Amino acid sequence: MKAVTLSLALLMGVAVAPAAWSLELPAPAVAREQLSAAGISAEPVTVLEPHLARKGRMPEVRYVGFPANAALAQWLGADWNAAGRELELRALDGFVSRIPVERFAQHRAWLMIAREDGKPFQVDNHLQGEKQVPLGPFYLVWDNRRSKALQAEGGALWPYQVAAVSSGPSSTKALLPGDMAKRYGAAADLARTHCLSCHRIRGYGGDKMPLDLDVAVKGFDAAAWRRWLLTPSAVRPGTTMPALAEGRPDAERAAIARQLYDYLHALPPR
Ligand code: HEC
Repeated sequence: MKAVTLSLALLMGVAVAPAAWSLELPAPAVAREQLSAAGISAEPVTVLEPHLARKGRMPEVRYVGFPANAALAQWLGADWNAAGRELELRALDGFVSRIPVERFAQHRAWLMIAREDGKPFQVDNHLQGEKQVPLGPFYLVWDNRRSKALQAEGGALWPYQVAAVSSGPSSTKALLPGDMAKRYGAAADLARTHCLSCHRIRGYGGDKMPLDLDVAVKGFDAAAWRRWLLTPSAVRPGTTMPALAEGRPDAERAAIARQLYDYLHALPPR
């Protein structure tokens, strides 16, 4: 009986191996059937779309998708969000978002599969100067209409083209070796939010532009570093590296750049 249950679960694509904690997501149409069998249905939700931000103002867009917490519990098992874990979302192009699971308790999120108005499921990405970027198969969005803090963050933790998810131990140990947590904990969080979806620190992070920031930082003085982070397209026209935290005041952005610079220099060589 047990064996039958297991193979049925495998056939249905249900995550049965918490040891790996990793799952290639089913196609949205398949996900719709799977999840609705578990009582989870796709719903329309309006968000302020950070990828369409112009001078800090974001238009409303209405998407259709699954409540993230319910879908993730279904896919990864009930303890996907156990304390201290991190959710990793991997996109078709290698972009990786690592998000502490606590964030999913603080803010509501959805895994979107379509626009509600039936238009193509794509968005212009003003932050990266890319047009008509496909968002599917899954696009993680946050309930940012009532949260100024989420609005100020922009699109850093809104990964699209999400094709696989996994839940694993937090990257904190890798990012903050020895006793660095106290002094540099906030800086490591900033790196996680703003940089590690594309780059790495001590091997931790994304593959969109595989570059170890703790090594790369050595080629910059503080002023050149700030200029690159705050105005990448002025330094290198046509670059797809987004400017750091565009929705925030310049003084704050410069302070973040400085914090990252000091933190990266403080990391011991591996
Ligand atoms: C959305 C992806 C993305 C994010 C997020 C991102 N970068 Fe980049 N970064 C790139 C790309 C792409 C390049 C290559 C730039 C080019 O050559 O046009 C790059 C290049 C770099 C370089 C090398 C520059 C050089 O002169 O070779 C550094 C250093 C860097 N990024 C630092 C950062 C830091 C620090 C952050 C966080 C504040 C960050 N990046 C966030 C995509 C990203």
